[in-house]
Amino acid sequence: MDRHSNPYTPGAGAKPPVLVGRDAELEDFRVAFERLGSGQFARSFVLDGLRGVGKTVLLNEADVLARERGWISSGVVECNEDDELPLLMARLSHRALRRLSMTRRVSGAVKRALGVLRAFTFAMDEAGSWRFNIDVEAVVGVADSGDPEADIVELLAEVGAASAQHGSGAAFFLDEMQFLGKRSLALLAAAMHGISQQNAPVLLLGAGLPQLPLMLKKAKPYTERLFEYRTVQGLPRASAATALTVPAQRLGASFDQAALELILDHSQGYPHFLQQWGETIWKEAESPTITLRDARVAEELVNDELDRRFFRDRYEKATEAEAIYMAAMADLGDGPRASSEIATHMGMRQKDLSVRRAGLIEKGLIYNPIGTQLDFTVPQFAPYLRRVHPFDPKQQPTRGRPRTSSPRARASKNV
Ligand SMILES: Nc1ncnc2c1ncn2[C@@H]1O[C@H](COP(=O)(O)OP(=O)(O)OP(=O)(O)O)[C@@H](O)[C@H]1O
Ligand SMILES: [Mg+2]
Repeated sequence: MDRHSNPYTPGAGAKPPVLVGRDAELEDFRVAFERLGSGQFARSFVLDGLRGVGKTVLLNEADVLARERGWISSGVVECNEDDELPLLMARLSHRALRRLSMTRRVSGAVKRALGVLRAFTFAMDEAGSWRFNIDVEAVVGVADSGDPEADIVELLAEVGAASAQHGSGAAFFLDEMQFLGKRSLALLAAAMHGISQQNAPVLLLGAGLPQLPLMLKKAKPYTERLFEYRTVQGLPRASAATALTVPAQRLGASFDQAALELILDHSQGYPHFLQQWGETIWKEAESPTITLRDARVAEELVNDELDRRFFRDRYEKATEAEAIYMAAMADLGDGPRASSEIATHMGMRQKDLSVRRAGLIEKGLIYNPIGTQLDFTVPQFAPYLRRVHPFDPKQQPTRGRPRTSSPRARASKNV
């Protein structure tokens, strides 16, 4: 069919043609913006979920909701592995204030908040390596004590106050939060705790991989009460069907039931897989009625696309020793596995594998669903690994040599 009209969106954070199955979350965000905007209490949100399930898309939607309700938004900012919280907070504040000063006449409150941000950057960035373009004099005595927790609270309160003068408040969006270290997460929790006690109109919406709630809890036990947690799940079968069929219907195309069933079985309701299926089958189908034959032809192409665009970058993030560990995990089958079982399967002691395990968790490739169980953060990763890296109990890592020389793998920071 015509490639120009292809409605599907298999890309990171790409707005889907129909956002299915997220009404409850969007309603929760709406209520929080409205409550906090009118001076009532509302908690900040933390979303968690597997790769490709739709977390970034939800943050982007929440950003739209916030702006529709007069909130000043930072837009979504992604955390990277070595990011320190003060820099991220400065970045979020700068983006929100810049948007505020671009869209409206710059008021005294905005100038003051920019001045406070400048003072904050002086206090936090002794090396002078941060690059923020702020052409306002630093305000002395606010957010410049050098104590990150107190200074972040003061900075956010200033940004909130400036935003409230022009609308409802300031909304901050942080993606890939699992890349923050324990210190940064503890600082973030303490800062949001401080802000909520002041009832300042500042709402944080954060997202990350499934280990994020536990990471926050380990950083500060009270985060359980501080944040509203939402796990973003794959779509139930009926919603997954809607995600595929409605965009097609709008363009006069349809799926035969058998074709639809095959796609739903294959994609297991994971939004990224559904979009990939949609995109590929749209390209391949010859008539507007998509048949089982089209689905069978598309299957191999979808697998290729997913291998190249979804799985491979993540696999290449692992060192050779970590890849062997993952191959052993995948060899045991799909679903969570106890770390003791993986060690036995490899014929090694658990403690000799702890570095690999920790490395994979840090890179966001595996996580602990419960206790000592381990699972992949990437859906359908086990079958992929069995294809590209069959487990060989005799395989040993080659000491000191990187497993891959692909520049793409080395350049990509996020998995
Ligand atoms: N509710 C939804 N309905 C249909 N498609 C969706 C939905 N949510 C997300 N998608 C699609 O799924 C894909 C993945 O979305 P997104 O990038 O937001 O996932 P993610 O959870 O942030 O993944 P990652 O952890 O890899 O960053 C995109 O192609 C997007 O268009
Ligand atoms: Mg994302």
